[in-house]
Amino acid sequence: MTPESTVSASRQRVAEHLVGREREVELTLAAVAAGRDIVLEGPPGTSKTTMLKAITDEWGIPLMFVEGNADLTPAKLVGHHNPSRVLREDYSPDNFVAGPLTEAMQTGGFLYIEEFNRAPDDTLNTLLTAMADRRLAIPRVGMIEALPTFRVIASMNPYDNVGTTKLSSSITDRLNRLSVDYQNAEAEERIVHLRAKPEGALADRLVADAVAVTRATREHPYVRQGSSVRGAIDLVAVAVQLAELRSIEATDDSRYPELVFDSMVVSLSGRIHIDEAVDISPEAVLREIWQDHFVLDPALAEPG
Ligand SMILES: Nc1ncnc2c1ncn2[C@@H]1O[C@H](COP(=O)(O)OP(=O)(O)OP(=O)(O)O)[C@@H](O)[C@H]1O
Ligand SMILES: [Mg+2]
Repeated sequence: MTPESTVSASRQRVAEHLVGREREVELTLAAVAAGRDIVLEGPPGTSKTTMLKAITDEWGIPLMFVEGNADLTPAKLVGHHNPSRVLREDYSPDNFVAGPLTEAMQTGGFLYIEEFNRAPDDTLNTLLTAMADRRLAIPRVGMIEALPTFRVIASMNPYDNVGTTKLSSSITDRLNRLSVDYQNAEAEERIVHLRAKPEGALADRLVADAVAVTRATREHPYVRQGSSVRGAIDLVAVAVQLAELRSIEATDDSRYPELVFDSMVVSLSGRIHIDEAVDISPEAVLREIWQDHFVLDPALAEPG
C-alpha cells in the first residue's frame, strides 16, 4: 500500500485518533503524501505529536524523536563509529552506530525534531542536505539512500525565546510550514474527558471548570505562556483524587471551589510562565483566575 494511493482513506483513519483537527490532519497529510517535509509551529500540547503518531501508525512506519538544542551536533544526528571497536577493527560500516537521521532514512520513518530552531547551524545544514538529496554520504560508511516514506517533521514553539536562533531565509525557503494553535473549549473538554476519564457526578462539572481556568492562564496579562490542555487533563485527574481524599460530594457546593483551586495549584503552577518583568507568584496568578471564575462570575460555579 503506497501512501499516495490511499491518502483520502488515510485521512479518515488518522482523524479517528484525534479530537477535531480535521484541517491540520488534512494539510499535514497533503504535505507528507506529496513527499514534502514540514515545520509545525505551535505552542506545547496542541496535538502535534498525537497527529504525527496517528499518521506514522497509519503508514506503518517508525516515528523518531530528537530534541533540538545546542548539543545536537551533526554527529549526533547522523551517528558515529563505536570508538573501542574502531581501535580493535579500524573504521568500517559495520561498527557505525546510526543516529536518528540515518535510522529514519534507512527505515523510512518520520524524524521528528522538536524545537528545531534551537539546533546549531551546522546541524540544520546537515538536515537540509538530507532533505534535499534524500540521501546522505557518511564518511567511512558510504552513501545512505532514504526509503520513500522518510520525512523530516520539525516543530517550533512561537512563544519560545530562550536559546533560539532566528532561522535564516535560506532555511525557511526550503521548508513547508503549518501553524497550529490551541483548540476551542469544546474540543479541549472532549480531550480532557478522553484522557483523564473522570467518572462520577463531578466529572462534567470538573472538566468544564478545568478547561475554563486552564484557558484563562493563556489570557492572563502577567503570563507569557499559559498552560496547555495537559494542565487541564492533570487538573481533573488530581481533583478526582482530592475529592475522594476529602470526601467531597457533587452536591457539596461550599467545598467544591476550594477543591478546584488546590488542584489548580498542583496541576497549573509549574505550567505557567510569568512575564519576567512582573514580580508575582504563579499561585497568586492562579488565585486571581480562580476568583474571576468562581467568585466574580458565580453563575459559572453553579452545578450543571
Ligand atoms: N486533538 C487531540 N485529540 C486527542 N488528544 C489530544 C489532542 N490534542 C492533544 N491531545 C492530548 O493532549 C496531550 C498533548 O498533546 P500532544 O502531545 O499531541 O501535543 P504536542 O503538540 O506534541 O505538544 P508538545 O509541543 O509539548 O510536544 C496528549 O496527552 C494528547 O493525548
Ligand atoms: Mg509533542
